[in-house]
Amino acid sequence: MTAEYKVLGEIAVITMTNPPVNGLGYSTRVGITDGLSKANDDPAVKAIIITGAGKAFSGGADIKEFGTSKALQEPNLLSVILALEASPKPIVAAIHSVVMGGGLELALGCHYRVVAPGTSVALPEVKLGLLPGAGGTQRLPRVLGVETALNMIVSGEPVKSELLASAPGQKLFDKLAASAESLFDEAVEFAKSVAGKPAAELPLVRNLPCKHPQGDAYFQFARNMVTGMSKNYPAPLKCLEAVRASTTMKFNDGMAEERRLFTQLMLSPESSALRHLFMAERAASKIPDVADDTPKRDIKTVGVIGAGTMGGGISMNFLNAGIPVKILEMKQEALDRGIATIKKNYEAQVKKGKLKQDKYDQRMSLLSTTLSYDDLKDCDLIIEAVFEELGVKETVFKKLDEVAKPGAILASNTSTLDVDKIAAFTKRPQDVVGMHFFSPANVMKLLEVVRGKETAKDVLATVMAIAKKIKKTAVVSGVCDGFIGNRMIEQYSRQAGFLLDEGATPQQVDKAIEKFGFAMGPFRMGDLAGNDIGWAIRKRRATERADMKYSRTADKLCELGRFGQKTGAGWYDYQAGKRDAIPSQVVLDLIEQHRKDEGITPRKISDEEIVQRLVYALVNEGARILEDGIASKSGDIDMVYLTGYGFPIFRGGPMHYASQAGLYNVAEAMKRFAKNPRDDGKFWEPAALIQKLVAEGKSFS
Ligand code: 3HC
Ligand code: NAI
Repeated sequence: MTAEYKVLGEIAVITMTNPPVNGLGYSTRVGITDGLSKANDDPAVKAIIITGAGKAFSGGADIKEFGTSKALQEPNLLSVILALEASPKPIVAAIHSVVMGGGLELALGCHYRVVAPGTSVALPEVKLGLLPGAGGTQRLPRVLGVETALNMIVSGEPVKSELLASAPGQKLFDKLAASAESLFDEAVEFAKSVAGKPAAELPLVRNLPCKHPQGDAYFQFARNMVTGMSKNYPAPLKCLEAVRASTTMKFNDGMAEERRLFTQLMLSPESSALRHLFMAERAASKIPDVADDTPKRDIKTVGVIGAGTMGGGISMNFLNAGIPVKILEMKQEALDRGIATIKKNYEAQVKKGKLKQDKYDQRMSLLSTTLSYDDLKDCDLIIEAVFEELGVKETVFKKLDEVAKPGAILASNTSTLDVDKIAAFTKRPQDVVGMHFFSPANVMKLLEVVRGKETAKDVLATVMAIAKKIKKTAVVSGVCDGFIGNRMIEQYSRQAGFLLDEGATPQQVDKAIEKFGFAMGPFRMGDLAGNDIGWAIRKRRATERADMKYSRTADKLCELGRFGQKTGAGWYDYQAGKRDAIPSQVVLDLIEQHRKDEGITPRKISDEEIVQRLVYALVNEGARILEDGIASKSGDIDMVYLTGYGFPIFRGGPMHYASQAGLYNVAEAMKRFAKNPRDDGKFWEPAALIQKLVAEGKSFS
């Protein structure tokens, strides 16, 4: 059982002991009801306190139990709360640190609540695509008023306890303790003050009235707001309907309505995706052969080499986290340009009111520049972001090997080069690692941490920890061409090209995949990033991998100088100063001519085929990445795509999506695509891992 029971004089204390956040899993629920029975059976006990050990009162229902029979096993959370309400002896919740989801619902089933200041209070179920399913939608409006409760439930955002405790008329908290340290003693005092109260006089939240003066009009207004904000996500509207039920139905009927809506959401693909995201995000920071307690190196100062597009953005991440940065360049003009861009970015934030002037000044004061490698000798982490040429990287890493202090971590931001080769330019390959940021590096969440064959475990542990500090989602990738993300996107782009050959237009492909939920289709994305980048990569690969088949349309486009937005023309036309993609007759003619040259008779291609070929191309390459050990788990691949490539969050990433679609169906579709003479049949043979999982009736998860 993960709850402890003790008796202090006339007060029984039940303490949830389920680290890390006292999730209300089966063994904790049993512990609570067990303690409750003991307390009610003991004539010496006159009041009961429920609290949580460690860093939370409770983070809510145990997310790891979702989808398993354990979640519903009696006593389920609803039964525990009913048992609390039915207790003939007063129950006081002593709440601190975090009270969320089912944890807050549990507290609302207690007769009284004493809270420590600074506690984060939330019903965050909506962020998991759910609604509070243990009475939260019926009880919170009764203690905070309908509007405050609805805001909290629909947004899922935490609110500090002292703010809620000071709201006029609130009935959520009976007492705000003076401090977290004094909470327990104050809860004991409070319990003594209500000890021995007759059962009939014990207050229950369910008995409080719940009305909104404008009733239907208010909910219609709120519905319009929520509908506009929650495209693709069913949970926010269902949260609203459940809260509305608290104002129109009797308590027990409202509870039944909440349950009905909760069950619908629990079965929805959107919730499945969001729960997967929650777990995958946390799992990504765990590396199978690197223990959690691996000692980490101290990172107090960071050096950045190259003040270009990436170097500037990378530097901003560390400045934002209060870590001093020294940027090195070859020439003063390049430094000046780089610093000016950093300033411009910050100033734009100040102008928009997103950054206070004093914070801006503080960040800039942490930034220094140099033209001399000797000035990097005290840096604990040095990140190289110079031109993408192995020769240039060689010069830089040989120099770093001479000047960097022993134990300094030497990182490369290379997007395509072999990190093992870069490491071999030094006499300390164990200290070398890839830190592949995405552009704009100060905005994009993803960081691919590229593990060389000699990268030391403590280097990896340190880089994962520093990534968290600069608020990045770090995913470990092995060394291969393109790492996880770009290796997969190559297959996606190849399919986009074949679709043009076979009869689709750029706008049809973009529209279909954007309707699926991608932020931007492949052709609009190409125009934004610059089509010349892919062109250069294809030229390099033409010699390395001559057997790889591509559509020639993209090369022909580049031969016309249509590199995208920066040249005013790409797959689409652009008007000066505007980013709207206008379908281009030049491009349509180019594609038509290309088909004639290749002897292709165009056919009508459905949106469904477009989506499947693009997404399943990611899935097949993702599976090969797993087979090759480049990624250690499918959730890592999903995190790369969700945080770095605009894959729709509500679909949970390519590997999760494929698991949801059923790997058998995915493999059958691949076999169909393999028969298409215009496509790359060899690529479409389902990866061995997919075939194995299908044979075993399993999915990636
Ligand atoms: N159940 C199980 N484990 C949980 C959990 C939960 N509800 N909430 C967090 N954890 C785990 C995490 O998986 C992580 O585990 P790990 O160390 O093995 O990776 C660990 O707790 C720490 O989590 P964070 O890294 O997120 O730590 P933080 O200190 O940054 O944040 C937190 C703590 C604010 C509690 C945050 O984890 C959080 O927001 N959790 C989700 C809370 C939530 O959504 N609760 C609602 C659950 S649904 C529910 O209650 C349904 C009910 O209405 C019926
Ligand atoms: P950039 O051309 O904007 O900047 C490179 C900077 O490095 C220039 O300011 C240049 O003066 C400086 N530089 C070149 N050689 C140097 C040397 N020997 N010593 C010191 N400074 C030197 O290039 P960008 O886009 O910032 O790319 C840098 C690296 O980041 C490359 O390896 C690239 O592949 C990688 N990358 C780029 C992404 C992008 O979208 N631009 C995304 C992810 C990685």
